[in-house]
Amino acid sequence: MNKVELVNLPKILDRRGNLSFFENNNQIPFEIKRSYWIYDVPGGEIRGSHAFKKSQEFIVALSGSFNVVLHDGDEEVQYSLNRSYYGIYVPNMLWRTLVNFSTNALALIVSDLKFDERDYIRDFNEFKKIKK
Ligand code: TYD
Repeated sequence: MNKVELVNLPKILDRRGNLSFFENNNQIPFEIKRSYWIYDVPGGEIRGSHAFKKSQEFIVALSGSFNVVLHDGDEEVQYSLNRSYYGIYVPNMLWRTLVNFSTNALALIVSDLKFDERDYIRDFNEFKKIKK
């Protein structure tokens, strides 16, 4: 869990509206291969609830808010994302769940690997076994 990191992103303040950004191997400690986003989440729904064998991710709440729950097989930590100028780095082999989405929440997720179902661990008991 010690590799998990909240990362402040550059924030260019402007009367015309603010701007933030991230770049490969700069604010983000990996090379981005894929971006996806989660939106229109009905109240009370949960996304995620799986681990990635290899993929690392960086997650930003571009709009609204939600919580990122991380479990390393022993302990659980929870982060609240609610600003578009910071995000959370999630290394591989952590069980991660997105919960508590606000109305109009928009979760942007970038990953260092292209989509591959074989990279998923979708069974928590299997995850815990592998972690041991
Ligand atoms: P999944 O990662 O299981 O969603 P959640 O964030 O709730 O865990 O993905 C849901 C579906 O979308 C699944 O059938 C795979 C597909 N998918 C892609 O095709 N490409 C992607 O980059 C992602 C993240 C998912």
